[in-house]
Amino acid sequence: MSINFAKIDTPALLLDLDKLEKNIDDIASFAKEAVVAVRPHIKTHKSIKIAQRQIEAGAVGLTVAKVGEAEIMVAGGIKDILIAYPLAAKPKLERVKKLMEQAKVIVAVDSVEQADLLEECFDPKNPLNVWIKVNSGLNRVGVDPNEQVVELAQHVKGLSGLRLDGIFTHAGHSYAASSTEEIETIANEEAAAVVTSAELCEAAGIPIPNRSVGSTPTFKIAGTVEGITEIRPGNAVFYDMVQVGLGVAKREQCALTVLSSVVSVKKNRIVIDAGSKTLALDQGAHGNASIAGHGFVKEHPEFVIARLSEEHGVIPVEGTVDVKLNDRLTIIPNHACVVANLFETYLVYRDGKVIDEWKVDARGRLQ
Ligand SMILES: Cc1ncc(COP(=O)(O)O)c(C=O)c1O
Repeated sequence: MSINFAKIDTPALLLDLDKLEKNIDDIASFAKEAVVAVRPHIKTHKSIKIAQRQIEAGAVGLTVAKVGEAEIMVAGGIKDILIAYPLAAKPKLERVKKLMEQAKVIVAVDSVEQADLLEECFDPKNPLNVWIKVNSGLNRVGVDPNEQVVELAQHVKGLSGLRLDGIFTHAGHSYAASSTEEIETIANEEAAAVVTSAELCEAAGIPIPNRSVGSTPTFKIAGTVEGITEIRPGNAVFYDMVQVGLGVAKREQCALTVLSSVVSVKKNRIVIDAGSKTLALDQGAHGNASIAGHGFVKEHPEFVIARLSEEHGVIPVEGTVDVKLNDRLTIIPNHACVVANLFETYLVYRDGKVIDEWKVDARGRLQ
């Protein structure tokens, strides 16, 4: 059954509840079989309602990048949060301290200098949980695996305001892979960086019970490696055209779409009311180049959204096309996470009807 789009003002963010539930269940079933915990990254959906569904499906807690996201999720009742970011600024750490009154909070550590700054803010009576972030090839934050991790772990162990019990990594460079085999190699390296580092720490007398890997392209491979205890997929809750381009998901699995209207039909082009402030300009992440245009038009797979200005999307056409003013076009975004952040609400639909509106609660929480 298709929705009566004519009644919906555009641009609008549509969420297919059946697909969302299936994606959440798929992650949960994988984790059950692989015997790993799930700690989804909520930067994709930024929604308390979706986070709660992930917890109901068995997630042990959440991952966030921002203290502001953590604050929203804790206010929504979430009790266990990894802030997967090397926080070092005092005002942010004061906010973390406040959050610790209501939830278990873990913060990423990736240098001795940062660990020392954390130590200044937390005391032994209520220590801050920390996990060491390892660089498994993305070359963003994270200490190099193995010996460098052990050195950092030994330093952290000597700090009474911190409690170290985990090592994690994010293989974001998997987005630049040009084949399934390359994704597999990156996923195995991702898991090895964590497992070997954890084993070396344990050999040095520092227990590392939590060994966590992330990324939607890699989690189903890295999550099966012996010694890994947790996965942190973010995008897999929605999927998008980048994942389709990588061969990680099928178009039918994509739960999030943007509903747009045709605002102008010209001899050689159609213009829609979805521009860069709606679809975002991303055409991939970390070097991915599998994408044509700025999203997939479900009603017209042959269309390419070639150009975006802030409020216009331009689709070049040849000859006559069966599209007129005010027609609705549904677009699977290239990068669902950034698109969700641009909207205030999800229109949640099932069986051809919009049945609810969910807030994008943590949108814009950049600090
Ligand atoms: C630390 C960390 N964990 C997990 C993820 C989730 O990655 P993905 O959206 O590819 O699943 C990210 C994404 O940026 C991340 O930075």
